[in-house]
Amino acid sequence: MKPKLFLFFLFLTINTYFLPSQSVVTSTIPQQFREAPKFYNSPECPNNNFKADDSDNNHNNDVVCWNEAIHLAMTLDAAYIRGSMAAVLSILQHASCPQNVFFHFVASASADASALRDTISASFPDLIFQIYPFRDSAVAGLISTSIRSALDCPLNYARSYLADLLPPCVRRVVYLDSDLVLVDDIAKLSGTPLPGDKVLAAPEYCNANFTSYFTPTFWSNPSLSLTFANRRACYFNTGVMVIDLDRWRGGDYTKQIEEWMELQKRMRIYELGSLPPFLLVFAGNIAAVDHRWNQHGLGGDNFRGLCRALHPGPVSLLHWSGKGKPWARLDAGRPCPLDALWAPYDLLKPPFSFDS
Ligand SMILES: *[C@@H]1O[C@H](CO)[C@@H](O)[C@H](O)[C@H]1NC(C)=O
Repeated sequence: MKPKLFLFFLFLTINTYFLPSQSVVTSTIPQQFREAPKFYNSPECPNNNFKADDSDNNHNNDVVCWNEAIHLAMTLDAAYIRGSMAAVLSILQHASCPQNVFFHFVASASADASALRDTISASFPDLIFQIYPFRDSAVAGLISTSIRSALDCPLNYARSYLADLLPPCVRRVVYLDSDLVLVDDIAKLSGTPLPGDKVLAAPEYCNANFTSYFTPTFWSNPSLSLTFANRRACYFNTGVMVIDLDRWRGGDYTKQIEEWMELQKRMRIYELGSLPPFLLVFAGNIAAVDHRWNQHGLGGDNFRGLCRALHPGPVSLLHWSGKGKPWARLDAGRPCPLDALWAPYDLLKPPFSFDS
């Protein structure tokens, strides 16, 4: 080893041992992410003339109300941030107009918002985004324990509150889970038709056993089960939704969801967490999102090591729904074959890497 190079490594070693590692970010978000490439609008895009500038939030008010913006909502927390970062990268990479996508991140009010903001900005310096604090306490009292405790995280319920959280000028939003990547243009998903008075669009699965999402208590009580009378109710996935926020606000659907949650606290009418209230309010009355936008179940089941294959048909979005997550399996050295499709979007810095 050349002396200069040796000194360089010695310096790095000393640096690593004696300097406090990085900023406040590391204390709440234990991971370090690299910077994503920059993505530009294609010439056909409506031009927003806005520049990301995190020192000033006013520009966001202009962009957020710009009627050509594509609005996207996701939750953000320390546990799933690696998935969220990969999702954001995948959206930008496949968008025809990446600079026109406005990201609305909902984070727990008790989370370190500045650490989350710093992490996002460091990887995506030009991203146009806003972080909304979600008061866990507002919903915590409404959550009853479900079978899978991971589903009881208050932030899971944030999707029911988007109409209140986002500014009134935002009239349509795409909500996405953090365990997915897009391989197609978000504008196409966002443009899903919502005919008539439809409030939301989601991937529907009419072959799923709808009965099984609710308890015998629910089905044996006509005043409850009648809610599905005259509706061709099908299961749908709430991890990929297009929501008309104007219609949502007009129908006060947040209130309707909360009323079912209140009832669930008094008598067990379903087993899972945030999904059944959505089914109760909307099932049978939604617009369908093409299944290509939810190649789901890639997380596998609760059985460790079970890998899923793609469903037949085209792929615009890969969704690792289920218990297994690709980052955890990759870290454990036991990835499923399709986890290789998630890996290119992983922005996590390899441990002990020395680049900036
Ligand atoms: C659907 O689920 C219910 C309740 O879990 C069960 O009793 C019923 O047999 C299932 N139906 C089918 C067709 O699998």
